[in-house]
Amino acid sequence: MLQKEYWDSVSPTKNFTTPFQTDEFAEHVTKDAHIADIGCGYGRTMAGLYGMGYRSLVGFDISSGMIERGRAQFPFLDLRVMEEGRIDLADGSADAVILFAVLTCIPGDANQERLISEIRRVLKPGGILYVNDFLLNSDARNIERYEKYLDRYGTYGVFELPEGAVLRHHAEEYLRELLRDFTQLRYEHLTFTTMNGNRSNGFYYIGRK
Ligand SMILES: C[S@@+](CC[C@H](N)C(=O)[O-])C[C@H]1O[C@@H](n2cnc3c(N)ncnc32)[C@H](O)[C@@H]1O
Repeated sequence: MLQKEYWDSVSPTKNFTTPFQTDEFAEHVTKDAHIADIGCGYGRTMAGLYGMGYRSLVGFDISSGMIERGRAQFPFLDLRVMEEGRIDLADGSADAVILFAVLTCIPGDANQERLISEIRRVLKPGGILYVNDFLLNSDARNIERYEKYLDRYGTYGVFELPEGAVLRHHAEEYLRELLRDFTQLRYEHLTFTTMNGNRSNGFYYIGRK
């Protein structure tokens, strides 16, 4: 199943849960900032930001199902369908970009690099990148699936869900390399509850262009 089809198929039902560090975000991003949420899903993070008083918000997602759900649930948000890897914003126009639980949906290094460089393009110099995502786990259930899919995907940490999605848990050294062109302001470990109710290692990162 294509990734977009998978996310469309679960768009009416899945609820996303990775936590948003509102105080840390507000330390670096003022209320008048232009903020883009890439892979915004149905807009739950943007709705939270709206509630905090942020008003210049735009969300992009490859899944039209997610965007339709978000428009119905949060009609006050600006939510747009995007082509994979292309953000329809001018160079240097965003003060901050949010990327929450999106890298996990992009199994290959090259596509992740492409998205991060597209985010750099749309960020202003000094702009803020706020990422959260999944890290490798060391429990038997996860190790078994990382090993099972290693040959097929060529990266330890990539696996398929029975329902069709291909997901990735990341090595920290890899993330450091992926985000090498940003100045790290914050990096913290977290424990996430996944969209399927399991526990996973995770992180949040705040960086500056
Ligand atoms: C786990 S959900 C997280 C949604 C949202 N960021 C949140 O935290 O509530 C991942 C979202 O990323 C979208 N997505 C997957 N691959 C993408 C890509 N290459 N570019 C943009 N969005 C993508 C999916 O359609 C899905 O809505």
